[in-house]
Parts: sequence; structure tokens; C-alpha cells
Amino acid sequence: MHTVAVLSLKGGVGKTTVALGIASAALRRSARTLVVDLDPQGNATASLDPPLTDATLADVLKTPRRAVLDEAIAPSGWSDTLDVLVGAEELELLNEPGRTGGRRMENLARALDELHAAPSGEPYELVILDCPPSLGRLTRSALIAADSALLVTEPTMYAVAGADRALEAIESIRAEHNPNLRPAGVLVNRLRPRSYEHQYRIAELREYFGRLVMPTAIPDRLAVQQAQGACTPIHEWNSPGAQEIALTFNMVLAKILRSGRAGRHRLERDPDETTDTTGAGEPGGAETTSEFPAVRAYAEPETG
Ligand SMILES: Nc1ncnc2c1ncn2[C@@H]1O[C@H](COP(=O)(O)OP(=O)(O)OP(=O)(O)O)[C@@H](O)[C@H]1O
Ligand SMILES: [Mg+2]
Repeated sequence: MHTVAVLSLKGGVGKTTVALGIASAALRRSARTLVVDLDPQGNATASLDPPLTDATLADVLKTPRRAVLDEAIAPSGWSDTLDVLVGAEELELLNEPGRTGGRRMENLARALDELHAAPSGEPYELVILDCPPSLGRLTRSALIAADSALLVTEPTMYAVAGADRALEAIESIRAEHNPNLRPAGVLVNRLRPRSYEHQYRIAELREYFGRLVMPTAIPDRLAVQQAQGACTPIHEWNSPGAQEIALTFNMVLAKILRSGRAGRHRLERDPDETTDTTGAGEPGGAETTSEFPAVRAYAEPETG
């Protein structure tokens, strides 16, 4: 079971779209998958259209017992191989710091560990955590529970600073709570390939983050909104734009699973060992500067 958290500091950049796109790619590969909706807005839950449940993720985070977990997971309207741990508005209350908050932040990890140890039915190959747009307690719960974290960004002038802050958050969770956590990469969404500004921003991201930037970006296509509106996986939406995006999500899924396998190995490396931070060989790859400590910790060539 690989658990990936999909996050960004900013709202509306495409976290839910990416979480659902990866779920759609996993469905195409018949990989049993669970989407966990950590966002009080509940957009992933709405798009996946599960039946009404007796409990939600908010109950699981308060009481991470198996019985509660089972009540909060439902099959999605997309397929029997894709389930949802449903979100709820009251998750917002758990995003605030509180006296019992510290312990609660580990509850998602506890619940998923139980699911991993004793799956009901066929085990999940992939768990996708759709985070809310902040680095609050809910996103931190996700990072504590995850094996890898995928950063989503739009190609704008704040992308580098935002991705760096998110990488620092990943590093701090790794150091304090979850030594297995590693970044799966930075995924650029809503690219308009003919926009000079967008190309410039992608080059800038590559300059700072090297190979951490996914080699393929998700283009801006109306089909994304159409498929979401129809509660349909992007792989089943029949338009050239949708098919192009579906192929991109196949590649993103493959890279997440590959980076998950490489992760343990990388984190076991000698911390004093020098890292090769060049992006040579990657289309558009470039040298990674040493200005950002969080980047220095991770930006190294792929081994897998
Ligand atoms: N590649 C794309 N092409 C076209 N529209 C897109 C694309 N990605 C996202 N959108 C649209 O942008 C809007 C915001 O996307 P989404 O809900 O995935 O962002 P989010 O980061 O999850 O937002 P929030 O921070 O509120 O959770 C949605 O209407 C979605 O359909
Ligand atoms: Mg969202």
C-alpha cells in the first residue's frame, strides 16, 4: 500500500483534480484505491459520489477505531475498486490548534495502519490523500500518514516560493513524525503551453527544484471541468483534451509509485554524502541552486 498526499499552500490550484486524475489512472490499471477527502469543502467526495455513510473522516480523526473507519468508507460511484473515506464540513473544526490536537494529528496514520494490517477484502494498492488548501492540522495529519507528498502548483510567479514552503513543511514532518515521508515531486497544473509566461515559470521551477519537477505538466483543458461536473473519471471522458490529460495522469501515477520505491533507499543514505543536483538528461532540466535547504535535501537524480 502506497499513501500519497496531494497538497499545495494555495487554494484552487488543482489538488482535487490531481487526486481524482491519479485515482482515475489507478482505476484504469485495476489498482484497488482509496481516496481520503481531508478538505472540509468535500469536493473529492462530491465528485466521487459515494452513498451516504454513517460516519465521516471527522469521526475517524476523533476516534480512529476500526468500526468507525469501516462506517466512513464507501464505494465510489466510479467503480467498486475505488473507495472514498468521506469528507465533511465539520473537519474544519479539527484544522484549528487545540489541547487534544497534537495526538489527533496522528490519528489518520493510526487508522490507515490498521487498514493496512487488516484489510477488509482486497487490500488497497494506493491511498490518495486530498488535502485542504493550507498547511494546517489536516494537511499535517496527511503528511504524518503519507509515504510521499505530491506538490501541486500553477505556473505563476509565486510557484517557487510556495513549493519551497511546502517542501520545508514536508521536511519538518519527516524530522518530527514520519521518517519515511518524501516528496513525490512538484506537478504543474493548468499549463497553457503557448503562454510565454507559463514556460518561463516552469523553467524557473526547474531551475530551483531540478528533477523534483514532474517532467510532464497537466494542461489547462475544459474537459477537466466537464468530466468533474459529470462525476466521471477523466479516462472515460471522450474528447482529445481528456485523453491527453488521462495519459499525463498515467505517467504521474507511474512516477509516484516509482518514487515510493526509491524513497526508502534515498532516506537511508549517509547525510554527509554529496548530492548531484543537476537536471541533465531531463527535458528542460537545469542545475539546482543551493539557495533552498529543503531542495538540497531532496533534489537528486532518479535511481528507479
Ligand atoms: N487542468 C485543468 N484544466 C481546466 N480546469 C482545471 C484544471 N485543473 C483544475 N481545474 C479547475 O479549477 C478549479 C479548481 O480545481 P480544484 O478544485 O482541483 O483545486 P483545489 O486545489 O483542489 O482547490 P481547493 O484548494 O479549493 O481544494 C476546478 O473548477 C477545476 O475543475
Ligand atoms: Mg480541493
